[in-house]
Amino acid sequence: MIGDDLSEDGLSGDDAAYDDPHDSPVTAAFTAPDGDIEASLRPKSLDDFIGQPRVREQLQLVLRGATMRGGTPDHILLSGPPGLGKTSMAMIIAAELGSSLRLTSGPALERAGDLAAMLSNLVEGDVLFIDEIHRIARPAEEMLYLAMEDFRVDVVVGKGPGATSIPLEVAPFTLVGATTRSGALTGPLRDRFGFTAHMDFYEPAELQLILRRSAAILGIDLHDDASAEIAGRSRGTPRIANRLLRRVRDYAEVRADGVVTRDIAMAALEVYDVDPIGLDRLDRAVLGALVRSFGGGPVGVSTLAVAVGEEPGTVEEVCEPFLVRAGMIARTPRGRVATAAAWLQLGLTPPPEAATGGIEVRAREPQLDRSGEHPGPPGV
Ligand SMILES: Nc1ncnc2c1ncn2[C@@H]1O[C@H](COP(=O)(O)OP(=O)(O)O)[C@@H](O)[C@H]1O
Ligand SMILES: [Mg+2]
Repeated sequence: MIGDDLSEDGLSGDDAAYDDPHDSPVTAAFTAPDGDIEASLRPKSLDDFIGQPRVREQLQLVLRGATMRGGTPDHILLSGPPGLGKTSMAMIIAAELGSSLRLTSGPALERAGDLAAMLSNLVEGDVLFIDEIHRIARPAEEMLYLAMEDFRVDVVVGKGPGATSIPLEVAPFTLVGATTRSGALTGPLRDRFGFTAHMDFYEPAELQLILRRSAAILGIDLHDDASAEIAGRSRGTPRIANRLLRRVRDYAEVRADGVVTRDIAMAALEVYDVDPIGLDRLDRAVLGALVRSFGGGPVGVSTLAVAVGEEPGTVEEVCEPFLVRAGMIARTPRGRVATAAAWLQLGLTPPPEAATGGIEVRAREPQLDRSGEHPGPPGV
């Protein structure tokens, strides 16, 4: 049965969802969660969770309110780029409620029956976590509407004219959905969540706190200036920060006495090809293609993905959010455009018409964050 073999911290669900491993240590951090080590580094409670102060405050109210009324909280959607703490937060939600967590993922719910099996096993108050919920198949999604709204499902038995539908009660539960692409969720599904938490990239100071906590858990002697160096190159992402910390530790143990000083951190990050602002091979390839092959754009995201030999989804969900945030790529109605900062980053002189930064451009076109020509991953 789906989900039964997924222990709370075992990430078999995650592993199934991310099937395009990448050879860079940075991007690989998104596509392949690190199993046991990652589990040991997960924050276990809201107080333990560093950063995302708004999300934490809002969630605390949602959870406390429901607990005080003695009911189950509204369904919760967690959205944001990979590695920012969505899975950790889902586990925390269950822990804060004192409930058990059932874990599955959108791609695992191919047939309505898969979901029906999952739902019929829930007990009252359970938290059902569906990772990558935007990839859920249509029939399962339709069943989910009813389950979320009325705590019942209609199971269709048989085929053709003889098919009958058997109503099935579902115990009141809280659905926690996680998605890297909230824009790919259908309207009806999105509307059924009572609360959406948008996770944003972390500030370097927050990443430094996360690194300090991880170093303490892993028994790494990490100097403050070294953690600042790693934090600054982590693309605003805790998973990458933790990943880089472990690579730096390898270097410190093999080439030095194990103590992570700033010099050691810098030398190690050099070996792993992580540049001073944290861009990795794929990021640089995307910027390079945008600027060199397409004259700075505008160009559609699928075209860009083909140029760098990646899936459009990876470029859109993994590279682009950070490059936009770093002010190097702007999303416009006609496609992606390199800003002056992107040209400078590649050591080139920006043309006079190059946009100055993502922020101003985005402010004028707040709704047009997807060019529309990317059909979305399978199952949408
Ligand atoms: N706020 C945080 N505080 C400390 N560690 C964090 C935090 N957010 C994420 N992490 C670390 O990053 C790793 C990836 O987080 P995860 O919840 O799996 O991200 P997502 O599900 O969004 O991809 C976790 O194993 C955890 O160690
Ligand atoms: Mg996750």
